Amino acid sequence: MYRDRIRLETLWGKVMSAEEAALSIRDGMVIGMSGFTRAGDAKEVPVALAERARRDPLRITLMTGASLGNDIDKTLSEANVIARRMPFQADPALRRRINDGEVMFIDQHLSETVEQLRARQLRPVDIAVVEATAINEKGGIVPTTSVGNAASFAVLAEKVIVEINMTMPQELEGLHDIYFPSRRPYREPLGVMRPSDRIGLPYVPIDPQKIIGIVITSKADSPSRIEPPDEDTAAIAGHLLEFLDHEVREARLSPSLMPLQAGIGSIANAVLHGFTESRFSNLTMYSEVLQDSTISLLDSGRLVFASGSSMTLSKPLYERVLGDIGRYRDRLVLRPQEISNHPEIVRRLGIIGINTALEADIYGNVNSTHVGGTHMMNGIGGSGDFARNGHLSVFVTKSLAKGGKISSIVPMVSHVDHTEHDVDVIVTERGLADLRGLAPRERAALVIDNCAHPLYRDALRDYFNEAARSRGGQTPHLIEQALSWHARLRENGSMQG
Ligand code: COA
Repeated sequence: MYRDRIRLETLWGKVMSAEEAALSIRDGMVIGMSGFTRAGDAKEVPVALAERARRDPLRITLMTGASLGNDIDKTLSEANVIARRMPFQADPALRRRINDGEVMFIDQHLSETVEQLRARQLRPVDIAVVEATAINEKGGIVPTTSVGNAASFAVLAEKVIVEINMTMPQELEGLHDIYFPSRRPYREPLGVMRPSDRIGLPYVPIDPQKIIGIVITSKADSPSRIEPPDEDTAAIAGHLLEFLDHEVREARLSPSLMPLQAGIGSIANAVLHGFTESRFSNLTMYSEVLQDSTISLLDSGRLVFASGSSMTLSKPLYERVLGDIGRYRDRLVLRPQEISNHPEIVRRLGIIGINTALEADIYGNVNSTHVGGTHMMNGIGGSGDFARNGHLSVFVTKSLAKGGKISSIVPMVSHVDHTEHDVDVIVTERGLADLRGLAPRERAALVIDNCAHPLYRDALRDYFNEAARSRGGQTPHLIEQALSWHARLRENGSMQG
């Protein structure tokens, strides 16, 4: 019964259909929706909005925490509703429209969107549409499987539509920690000293008068589509674990390491799975997305606590965790993404950030977003928040893509997301390059020898040797040839000469 979940009785009269609620959204508005890597997205209002837009066209700026599930980005983009989108997406249909220039996509560090909204550097949010487990006696919103930017959207927006999700167990209440940093320039330090510290409220405090509609849904989150570990991702995990073991033997890390962050995607998930078999113990995570591997690590006892902004799980793990949330709740916390990714906390805790590259160059610059230098894949997500500020910044990638037609190690990346200054370690299935304390010429030798695939290794060595011999410099390059591998791929369908 949904009334149990709307504990402020004066709000009962606000329950309405998604179609009615969507009528408040008008052409040109900025809409902030909940949703972070397929978890906790608003599921009914966007679909009703798309339906309406097919009859009565309208376009909006859509902000979320990160990517959405339930094909929401697809449905909205196919109905031509999205004019502008930020700060992250991972949907093939939307991606096509972005790359066709029909949707303006603003690719942002995930910790920054709300900071810019608060400072009015971005147009304000007109309506927030957020999913909730419940609305409490004070009118506060209890989020579901993610927080993302939803808490700030609800606080900053003029009006709020709440989607109460009946499939979410009410025991989720207490899982979240909602805190908003005070105003700059005299901001108080953020009080997270350990991943498990709670510094805020278990609900989003808003003025209930702002709630203009409440929609009831029984749609579940979309399960994650993570590929199971394969030979290459297992090898990547093996190299990284061996490296961390070495760091422990050298007394640079203790056996509980530092709090871990792992990015989205199959490779990062496989790497974390590798920790289940490791000798490390008392591990903690201070990450943004908690994936299947987080739950396996908690179940194995190796991980004692995980802090994130969302839980994005496969169907079996989703059922296991939500069906028995009481067993996990005191070992998990979900926070707003500006807190889960906050540079101050990432630097204070000394996080080991493990993120995925599309390609890396011989000097350690990393491209995580642009295929061939031009076409958006997903976005930078939180990788930059962690890479710039962490204790160790690790990038993982397979050495080859597209059956060997692409080398993920190239002379010069075709787009830079993480500069050589932010990248400490690169790992492929071939091996690991520890770049700390090395100059560009030293980095190049190591990246080529340890990380490149043998198919491309000699060509990379020839490039570097010729650049060093004929041009020199701190970072030797043959400028006319630096991107010739990408040009060859475009012309011949392969980087191989
Ligand atoms: N050039 C072109 N395409 C490449 C490539 C390259 N150098 N390297 C990989 N790809 C392709 C793969 O072939 C694959 O294509 P497909 O979807 O058609 O099969 C796709 O990119 C994904 O690669 P995959 O190896 O499956 O890795 P993944 O699922 O781990 O995703 C990223 C890798 C980089 C796309 C993903 O991690 C990402 O979006 N990262 C940026 C955001 C981020 O790091 N967030 C972290 C905090 S959440």
